[in-house]
Order: sequence, then structure tokens, then C-alpha cells
Amino acid sequence: MIPIARPQMGSEEKELVWSALEAGALAQGRRVHELEERFAAFIGIPHAVATSSGTAALHLALLASGVGEGDEVVTVPFTFIASATAILFTGARPVFVDIDPATFNIDPALVEAAITPRTKAILPVSLYGQPAAMPEIMAIADRHGLAVVEDACQSHGAAIGDRKSGSWGVGTFSFYPTKNMTTGEGGMITTADAEVAEKARLLREHGMKVRYHHDMVGYNLRMSDIHASIGLAQLPKLPANNTRRRQIAARYDAELRGVVTPVVGAGVMHVYHQYTIRVNRRDEFVDRLRERGVGTGIYYPIPVHHQKPFVALGYGGQRFPVTERLTDEVVSIPVHPALSDADVSTVIHAVNATADELGALATGAGARA
Ligand SMILES: Cc1ncc(COP(=O)(O)O)c(C=O)c1O
Repeated sequence: MIPIARPQMGSEEKELVWSALEAGALAQGRRVHELEERFAAFIGIPHAVATSSGTAALHLALLASGVGEGDEVVTVPFTFIASATAILFTGARPVFVDIDPATFNIDPALVEAAITPRTKAILPVSLYGQPAAMPEIMAIADRHGLAVVEDACQSHGAAIGDRKSGSWGVGTFSFYPTKNMTTGEGGMITTADAEVAEKARLLREHGMKVRYHHDMVGYNLRMSDIHASIGLAQLPKLPANNTRRRQIAARYDAELRGVVTPVVGAGVMHVYHQYTIRVNRRDEFVDRLRERGVGTGIYYPIPVHHQKPFVALGYGGQRFPVTERLTDEVVSIPVHPALSDADVSTVIHAVNATADELGALATGAGARA
């Protein structure tokens, strides 16, 4: 079976982790600091703050941006649940808006109507490795005096023109094992705002700058030097890995038939954390790909407003037609750099044969007959 994801650990990761263990560098220390510096330079932004996960990065980025009790944050229901639960952690309330069916990302045209006097921030998600419409979102935020926290947990190295995901507003990344780069578990906040970075650092570590002097109630959401060591080995490989993902995606774009392939905006560098297609009779499609030896993933099978905690909070009756339709149509196929050219051919053959059997999806933009 060709798996949907396969983290790649080389001798560099092993050597750096081993040397951290030998040096007794176990908790947050020099390796974390080094990863922060290198990641900030990679994104092209002055500050990076490492965290224990992408969820922690979202949580701290929102708090450090001043989001709290009684506030509203505009985001999407077509995402991993952490984009929305991180808003709840702060005492604020997510206000969902629908997505653009072409890009799977927040529809900027819907954002302004969702803004109320309680709105404090916008949280666009750069899903599957394609940056959200960040220039448009920043313009709306500027007009209304709002913070922007980009969920860039799936878009390491993605860019619009020469600006990378994570360089607008406050960026948040996940280094979970399946991501384009990993630390095992881990996350990162990126920002040009020194105050946001400082506050995130304080909140990350018990509100403490000087040992055992606590300026505020904080958390322990630190990354360890062991995890940072994996990241230090992974980061230099990220550009080549993203290039390989893009090469595979280009073959899929050219050779897949009978499914809707991803639509990429002009000037956008998509890094294909996932290559997500839209298909007819999705559940049968997944079964037949499995029979043909191809693993798939559904990101995500239930939109956030239909997840139990959000139904309990009263979101269940809200309607987001694009999100709800795409939730039933999307399937991600393997696009990770561990695939051989022969694997890619196998995937293409399996998708095309299955689409022939199940019929093409009747839809608009991006459809291929
Ligand atoms: C879009 C999105 N947001 C947030 C997260 C949370 O990241 P983590 O799993 O590192 O907490 C993830 C990753 O799983 C994600 O894909």
C-alpha cells in the first residue's frame, strides 16, 4: 500500500538527537533557540517562538494578539478542529465563514459581513499547503483594526509572490510528523511584532522571564531541545522536499482525469502538504483506491461546526454550503517526497481507472473530463 504520509528520518536527525541526549540537552534550551532563529530567517520575519505543538502556537498567538473573553474571531469551519478550539481556549468565540470552492480557503468576500463590534481577529487557514488570500485579509483587518493570526500549520514554505506563509500578521506552524517538516510534536509562532513575540514567550513558560519571577499566569507549552534537534535537521531539507511535492503535483495536474484537481491562485507557491481532489461517490472511490494499493486521507470528514463540542455550543444549525458540499467530495492522495516515480504512476493509474468506473464529478471550476 502506498501510504498517504511517510515521515523521513535520516542520519542528520539521528546524529542531532543523539548529540542532544549525550549533552543532556533535554528541555527547552540552545537547540530550541537555534531552531527559532533559523525558522525566522527561513520565513523572512524577525521573531519566531517555538511551542510544544501547532495547537499551542495557535493558542499563544491568539492570547499574545490580545484575544480573550467575550471576543469574536472570524475563521472557517473547513479545517482541523484546533483552528477553532484554540479560539475557545482564550474565552473568545469563533465566527465561521464559508470557503472559496476553488482554493478550499477562507472566502475574503464573506469576512467583512461577519465582523461585529466584538471582533478582535481574523484567523485564516492556509489549508493543504496553499496560502489563504492573505493580502485581501490583511486589507480587511487594517480597515477594521483587527489582528490576523494565520493558521499556517500546513503551509511551511508556501508563498504568494516572494512573501511566505507566516510572514503576514502572526503565523502559526505545526511540526506534527506528517507535516512538510517535523519535530515529532512541535509548533512555531512567527511575527514581526516584538511585543507579540515577547508575550508569547512569557505565556509559553509560566509568565516567567527571570527564573521563578512570574509576571503573569502562563502555561508550559515549551518545545524540548530533543524535538528542536529533529527540526534543525529537517529545516534544511524543506525546500527540496517542497520541490519534490510540487513535481509530483505537476504530474497529477497533467495526468489525472475525471476528478477535480486543485486550483492554485496566480503567483501562489503551493507546497502540497496535501494534494486534494474532489471526486464522485467519495466513499466508494476511497475503497477502490485502497483495493488498487493507494492510501488516501479525508481532511476533514466532518466540518468543525458539526463536531460534537461545537454542536453543544449551538453551531450545529449554521449552514456553510460550500464547506458542507466539499466535506463530502474531498479526498487527498499521496504526494509526499518519499514517493518514487513508479509510485506516482501507480496513483495516477488508480485514480483514473476509479474515476472511469464511478463517473466524473459534475461541478464547476477546475473540473477535468
Ligand atoms: C490546519 C491545522 N491547524 C492546526 C493544527 C494543529 O497542530 P498540532 O497537531 O501540531 O497541534 C494542524 C495539525 O494537525 C492543522 O493541520
